[in-house]
Amino acid sequence: MKTYKIAWLPGDGVGIEVLEATKIVLDALNFNAEYIHGDIGWEFWCKEGDAFPQRTIELLQNVDAAMFGAITSKPVKAAEQELIPELRGKGLIYRSPIVRMRQLFDLYICLRPTKAYPGNPLNYKDTIDITVFRENTEDMYSGVEFNPVPEELSKTLANISKPFERFSKLNGDEYAISCKVNTKKGSERIIRAAFEYAKNNGKKSVCVVHKANVVRATDGLFFEMAKSIAKEYPDIRLDDANVDAITMWLVKNPNNYEVLVAPNLYGDIISDLAAQLVGGLGFGCSGNIGDKLGVFEPSHGSAPKYTGMYKVNPIATILAAKMMLEWLGERELADKIEKATAAVIKEGKVRTYDMGGSSTTLEMGQAIADKLK
Ligand code: IPM
Ligand code: MG
Repeated sequence: MKTYKIAWLPGDGVGIEVLEATKIVLDALNFNAEYIHGDIGWEFWCKEGDAFPQRTIELLQNVDAAMFGAITSKPVKAAEQELIPELRGKGLIYRSPIVRMRQLFDLYICLRPTKAYPGNPLNYKDTIDITVFRENTEDMYSGVEFNPVPEELSKTLANISKPFERFSKLNGDEYAISCKVNTKKGSERIIRAAFEYAKNNGKKSVCVVHKANVVRATDGLFFEMAKSIAKEYPDIRLDDANVDAITMWLVKNPNNYEVLVAPNLYGDIISDLAAQLVGGLGFGCSGNIGDKLGVFEPSHGSAPKYTGMYKVNPIATILAAKMMLEWLGERELADKIEKATAAVIKEGKVRTYDMGGSSTTLEMGQAIADKLK
C-alpha cells in the first residue's frame, strides 16, 4: 500500500484549529500518509519578510498533495511595516501566499463543490448541489498593478486608447491601475475542466459567468472560449449569465444550476455566495488543482476574532480533505468521510456555534471520526 506524502500547512488563526480537527478524522480513516509540516503565514512575514518561505515551496515540490488552513492577508501599510524591526527599510511588498502558491504551482482549477447536506439548519434549500469551477491563476489576480502609475505607461496608453484620454491628464499618484489579464490557454483549461466534470458526473448543463457586454476584451474572450469548447460536448447544455445577474438567480433559483465556470474574481465572489446557500463559510471547501499538485483548503479566512477559541466549524476543511482523497484516487476513503460528515449533520447532536450549537471545533472533528468506526 502506498504511503502518501502530504504537506500540512496550518497557516494562521483558526487555520490551525480546523486542521487539527481534520487530522482527527484522517487518523481515524487509516489513510496511509506521512504528514509534513510546512511554515506559512503572517508569522513568517513578520519574522522573515516572507509569508511563503522557500523551504515551504521546496516541500510542496516533493509531496503528493497538501492540506492548507488559512492565512491572514492584510493590506500592509508602509508605516505599519516600518514598526517591524526585521522588515524596516526593506521596501518589501506583501502578497497573499495562497495566491502566490496557486500561480507558482500552476494550480489552475479552483474547485468549490457546494452541496446542501440534509439536516443542516443553515441550508437555504436542502436540494442545492452546485459545483463552482473558478479560474485560479490569472484575471484580476494577475498581480499586474500600478499605484502610482508610471509616466511611460500613461503615455503609451494615451497613444493607443481613446477611453484612456480622460485619465491621461492625471498625475501618476492620482490614480491606480490593476490589470485583468486573461489568456486563451487559461480560459480554455478551466472551461474544459468544468465540461469534463459535467460529463463524468452526469450533469446536464454548465453555466459560464461573465460580464462580456461591458468587459469586452477579457470576458469576451472567456465567453467565446466557452462557446467553442461547448461544441465538443453536445450532450451538455451551455448556459451563460452576467455576473451581476447570477447573484440574483443563485438566490432565487439555485436549483437551476449544476456547474458554474468563471474567471478568477467572479469565481471568488460567486463561490462565497454559493457557500452561503448551504450553510456559510463553515461549509465551503476548496481545491486548488494543477496537473501535478493539489492543495486543499476551506474557503474561509483565518478569522482572527475567533482565534484560540476552538469554536469555528471544521466541516469545510474536513470536506476539503475528502476532496484531496478523491483527487488522489482514494474514492472509497473520500466517500467514507462524506458519509460520516453527512450523518453527523443529519443527526444534529453535535453542532458548532454557526449551526446554533455549542460544540467545539475538535468535538465536531471527533464526532465525524467516530462515525467512521
Ligand atoms: C479565497 C480567498 C482568497 C482569494 C484570499 C484569502 C486571497 O478569498 O480563496 O477565496 O481571494 O482567492
Ligand atoms: Mg474568496
